[in-house]
Amino acid sequence: MSGIIFFKTVNLAKIREFYEGRLGLKLWKDQGKCLIFAHGSLKLGFCEGQASETGGIITFVYDSPAEVDASYARFEKIATGKPEISEYYKIYHFWARDFEGRSLEFQCFIEPEKKGTEKAEISILNPDKAKPKLLLTRMIPENAVDQLKQVFEVHANTEPRNLSKAELLQHIPQMDGLLCLLGDTIDRELLDAAPKLRVISNYAVGYNNIDIDYAKSKNIAVCNTPGVLTESTADLAWALIMAASRRIVESDKFVRRGEFVGWEPLLFLGQDLHHRTLGILGLGRIGEAVGKRATGFGMKILYHSRTEKSPSYEATRVDLETLLKESDILSIHAPLTDKTRHLIGKKELAMMKETAVLINTGRGAIVDEKELIKALQEKRIFAAGFDVYEHEPQIPQELLDLENVVVLPHIGSASFATRAAMGEMAAENAIAIVKGEKPKSRIV
Ligand code: DGY
Repeated sequence: MSGIIFFKTVNLAKIREFYEGRLGLKLWKDQGKCLIFAHGSLKLGFCEGQASETGGIITFVYDSPAEVDASYARFEKIATGKPEISEYYKIYHFWARDFEGRSLEFQCFIEPEKKGTEKAEISILNPDKAKPKLLLTRMIPENAVDQLKQVFEVHANTEPRNLSKAELLQHIPQMDGLLCLLGDTIDRELLDAAPKLRVISNYAVGYNNIDIDYAKSKNIAVCNTPGVLTESTADLAWALIMAASRRIVESDKFVRRGEFVGWEPLLFLGQDLHHRTLGILGLGRIGEAVGKRATGFGMKILYHSRTEKSPSYEATRVDLETLLKESDILSIHAPLTDKTRHLIGKKELAMMKETAVLINTGRGAIVDEKELIKALQEKRIFAAGFDVYEHEPQIPQELLDLENVVVLPHIGSASFATRAAMGEMAAENAIAIVKGEKPKSRIV
């Protein structure tokens, strides 16, 4: 199901000039006497008629006040006032008018102000003062929670949202253990507020959310969950490779819109995968598993890694420039560190083939997202598939507006079995540390 809001107008040509030319909306359909524009999920239609309809409000919704300000800077000339907060509607917005007098509103939602001090509903799952205390920042599969309860008094955030920094700071001082997510930032401030903390068990293989060096200096063990999520994440990278290369999501939307009227010679042409070149940035466990799947497609495999690897299949180690220039598919699996942040920027994107597809299931900030959006908008590369974002969970509207991208909500490891296995490993790691045993995977 999708919908369109229509207005009548006496001047269709000027409407196009204004909404496409000036506001930058995408012309989604030109039906001759009717134009339909798209802005994210909003579809706005104008049909030629005897009189112009101007009632109602056309509202463009952004993700952040910064985006509202940026759009004010672009549309100041048609604005009827400056951006301001409406406490009543909990929005930040400004108004403008189109040339026929329709009201346009540009806004983002703001968080309703929290009354009093922020306080999460942390539940003590198994009150037992004799046990060390562990803060579980979000519920994970039950098997793992049961394991934790054997050894810890588990203080769990049972709400379906991540804890804020203030909430983490409020609870951490009493804790001996912390089982956290990749979305929890464990920085100096938090570690300084945790005098009893002995272990941080990250429910992820990546640990760029934790200040490892500072934790080490405070003798706090940091553990992660490598291995158990390798195959699932490689499967998902391949789902993205195929979806982006063969335009699966675009085609699916097209069929659902009822636009499929029969086989067409030029309908949704995409990029082949078989016998082409897969470039892997970071041949760790997941990168290697992605490469293994490529052998079934008869692909040539190149990789760029800090060290020479010996995967179970033929793969050639190359420098970054060769990887970028020769890959038909570039799949990113390097960890996010100071060295890999924005490793793929303007210069690197310019080296890629126009037919190339970029896939990121590693960490968003390895790629300069703004530059990648520009490359995709200007069709300097063919397509991209993302499971991760530079400022997760925020995703720029410009990225969502692109047809040649597939966007997923960081679900690389999200299979029932894998998330349960990650839970088990994260629980076992935390338990091993407090028992003075060797955990399955300790970083520091
Ligand atoms: C990780 O573990 O680092 C993934 O990004 C989530 O499973």
